Amino acid sequence: MSGKAACIRAENISMSFGKKEVLQSVSLNIAEGEIFGLLGPSGAGKTTLLKILTGQLRQTGGRAFLFGLDTERLPRDAYENIGLVLDNTGLYERLSCYDNLLLFAEIYGTGREKIMEALRRTGLAEAKKRPVSRLSKGMRQRLALARAILHEPGLLILDEPTAGLDPATAAEIHALIREERERGTAVLLTTHNMEEATKLCGHVALLHLGNIVEYGSPAEVCRRYDHLNAICLTLKDGESITVENTPLSAKLVADYLQSGQIESIHSTEPNLETVFMELTGRGFAS
Ligand SMILES: Nc1ncnc2c1ncn2[C@@H]1O[C@H](COP(=O)(O)OP(=O)(O)O)[C@@H](O)[C@H]1O
Ligand SMILES: [Mg+2]
Repeated sequence: MSGKAACIRAENISMSFGKKEVLQSVSLNIAEGEIFGLLGPSGAGKTTLLKILTGQLRQTGGRAFLFGLDTERLPRDAYENIGLVLDNTGLYERLSCYDNLLLFAEIYGTGREKIMEALRRTGLAEAKKRPVSRLSKGMRQRLALARAILHEPGLLILDEPTAGLDPATAAEIHALIREERERGTAVLLTTHNMEEATKLCGHVALLHLGNIVEYGSPAEVCRRYDHLNAICLTLKDGESITVENTPLSAKLVADYLQSGQIESIHSTEPNLETVFMELTGRGFAS
């Protein structure tokens, strides 16, 4: 393989549970150091794909590679370079936050000093002695994340990292994900939240009924659905005017600008939420 190695490469992955086809010929590439968003409504096949990409589930067709290694034959030490937070976080309820991380530190041979660092970075330093059974949902989610970053992996895989969390906790998790990216970690996350995907992700894939129906940067994807290709002017007197986004409109826009009547100008590009509604005929509230 030439050039920069992909962290993840999936080639025509298909998956069926009995007669039920969940994924059909899904291909994607996740480069080093990027945040990649896998988007789709409930039941789209996101978690199934993550399990296949991490060797926890064997696909019915196609091939997937994790750091160049075939996911059907991953050696144990391949997991040393991955931090994983799936639906079921698998934390030990009776153990404290600290002891949960200690257990993982021992498995990965991570120095103990990293435990407090991970707790601090996830805002759990003061709760270090608290058993998991007494943590709020947001704290559990942060502890799962602390465990995933503890051994400083090259790839973080997060299944709906902010689902059901309040906006402040979600924002803290976003900040941590960005920090990880800045350290050079690649991040693959799934989300229902289109705003989150737009803010965080370099690339997104929209999964619908087992197929990737759109792929690209959030801005690229949105531009492809800009059927109106118009510019909206809102004037200071409250009137709004829509003009075609072509050179023919230049003089009109310039005249409004010249006369100082313009309050705001924006293009009519749809956001990811609108694109997904158009593609799937449904929203994400599920
Ligand atoms: N082990 C399984 N056996 C049978 N069906 C499954 C299994 N796991 C997932 N599914 C089905 O596969 C589809 C996709 O599920 P999932 O990957 O969990 O979607 P998502 O994470 O996008 O919500 C769903 O219809 C789900 O019921
Ligand atoms: Mg899921």
